[in-house]
Amino acid sequence: MEHLKQAFLTHFNYEPTDSFFSPGRINLIGEHTDYNGGHVFPATITLGTYAVVGKNETQNLRLSSLNFPEVGVITVDLNDLEFRKEDNWANYVKGMAKYLKEAGHTIETGLDIVLEGNIPNGSGLSSSASLEILAGIIFEKMDGLTLERLDLVKLGKKVENDYFGLNSGIMDQFAIGMGEKNNALLLDTNTLIYEKIPVELGDHVIVIMNTKKRRELVDSKYNERLAECQQALKELQTELAIQSLGELDDATFEAHKNLISNDTLVRRARHAVKENQRTLIAAEHLKAGNLEAFGKLMNDSHVSLRDDYEVSGVELDTLVETAWEQPGVLGARMTGAGFGGCAIAIVANDQIDAFIKNVGEKYEAIIGYPGEFYIAEIGDGARAL
Ligand code: GLA
Repeated sequence: MEHLKQAFLTHFNYEPTDSFFSPGRINLIGEHTDYNGGHVFPATITLGTYAVVGKNETQNLRLSSLNFPEVGVITVDLNDLEFRKEDNWANYVKGMAKYLKEAGHTIETGLDIVLEGNIPNGSGLSSSASLEILAGIIFEKMDGLTLERLDLVKLGKKVENDYFGLNSGIMDQFAIGMGEKNNALLLDTNTLIYEKIPVELGDHVIVIMNTKKRRELVDSKYNERLAECQQALKELQTELAIQSLGELDDATFEAHKNLISNDTLVRRARHAVKENQRTLIAAEHLKAGNLEAFGKLMNDSHVSLRDDYEVSGVELDTLVETAWEQPGVLGARMTGAGFGGCAIAIVANDQIDAFIKNVGEKYEAIIGYPGEFYIAEIGDGARAL
């Protein structure tokens, strides 16, 4: 925080008045289910994005990120909030301001904002949703808005969908907006009803394994998977009265999968259906303290994402499959959209060092550059500090 305040003073010549934090997230299980009306099970981590803020006397936002010093201070006119590529990361803030205004809120306070994130960029830990919700809570406080947290979450998703054209589900913004220390959120993305479930791992921890692979293709592949699931759903709807794949259980799916026109679409839909069922069972195991069973379902989830949904890749598979071989590991899987980014593993405390060494060495030997490892701590959702 201190060096953020210092940077603010250097840029703007006065002291910031307010500070904020918005976390990143991991998803324990329930991947690529949120845009299929299924369940997800994310938790917010203590890595995230910090901001210090002050009011200026203009109608402009002046934005600076210590993560992108080469971009410098970006000035945004609050009366002109259209997406502009050259505005770079500031588009997340602009998008949030635009949609808050469209929702009837008054956003007219000129603000100076310096921020810095410690979520590795493009790592699948939701640095973009972290920034969207951060912008939302900054406007909420600085413009004195009366705003339900769930509405802010929905606007964050809208920024992703309509401003950036990525048709993502609601998991990331929901987790970041609603997250709570030491809990994971079992969210029904169809109804938005959720349950907080304590993540009590006893003598185990969650290790985040970062492939450090930039995820260039993610956005186009992501929209492609969504389209495939929608097509499969349409074909199932010729006989089934369902609105989403999340409504199906395994048996009903198996009995009707012949309605789907090709094998690729069958596999995509099978993942969506089974992953949703797995997530519900996994949450029960976690509640009951049955960590071994929980870990096995994480492994099954990865296999399904690798083989049926085809969103992993050699980097994620190398990390996860090497993790499976290590002593003291209850389960491991990719987390987030995939194609690169991060995986998670549940590892016994007394094996952490050996785990990181063994998985790290094998990853570097096969992939040619090192990965990165962090212990995940589950912290609170987005908030003013
Ligand atoms: C990204 C999206 C989420 C979700 C995951 C995959 O993180 O933003 O909505 O679909 O991928 O589970």
